[in-house]
Amino acid sequence: MTPLVIAQVTDCHLQNDPDRDYQGFDVERHLDRVIDDLLLQTPAADMVICSGDLVHHGGPEGYQRLSQRLAHLPVPSYWIPGNHDDAQLMLQAGHQHGSQLNQRTVVAKGWAIILLDSTSDPDGQGGGSLSRSQLTFLEQQLQQYSTHHCLVVLHHNPLPVDSDWQDRIMLANADQFWAALAPHQNVRAVINGHVHQPWELVRGDVRVIMTPATSVQFKAGCQQLILEDDPVLSLPAYRWLTLHGDGQIETSVKRVAG
Ligand SMILES: [Fe+2]
Repeated sequence: MTPLVIAQVTDCHLQNDPDRDYQGFDVERHLDRVIDDLLLQTPAADMVICSGDLVHHGGPEGYQRLSQRLAHLPVPSYWIPGNHDDAQLMLQAGHQHGSQLNQRTVVAKGWAIILLDSTSDPDGQGGGSLSRSQLTFLEQQLQQYSTHHCLVVLHHNPLPVDSDWQDRIMLANADQFWAALAPHQNVRAVINGHVHQPWELVRGDVRVIMTPATSVQFKAGCQQLILEDDPVLSLPAYRWLTLHGDGQIETSVKRVAG
């Protein structure tokens, strides 16, 4: 069986006004660079997963622009919300531009990709939680796809990343999340956005893979938000994930120069 290849695109932070910057950067153009790079790749990804903070407190226009850009790619896209998204607007945009945008479990090539919403109980600082219904959905899906390898996708990081300000706004009920995964031996990895920097961690047998943003990157190991200033590490980025039929995962970050 050929592997399942995923491009993870995250934390686009599109503004309502496409001419307005975010943290001093033209994030609209940054996203264009990532989409253009994806269009050049051969073979193409089988799908794109957009893991939250896609629009930064904007109206429907940002979601419409995102879906129009993704429509250039000859593969389906799937979206989950982040703390800066409006989940209802995202749902509506998904309905308008193809039902797959709102699909919650994607099954392909022996894998089940479970897409979660971690924006419940926001703390106003960027944190979020999985609601009881999301935890129940996760448990049901892991049970239903017990013969598949599972990849779990959520916006908030379920493990700390050694930055005080970011660790305060990680997944608030990470203990409940890990308790839901614990009885299941078929979870190969968790992927998330939110941290605007790459991490590859392990908890038990589960890999936890975090992806830098298309918009701007945050410097690692800081007490407060500091933008990455390294000329390479600060580039717009996305992640490739190659999911093999035996459950192994190969992954790498692609940084896109202007
Ligand atoms: Fe973000």
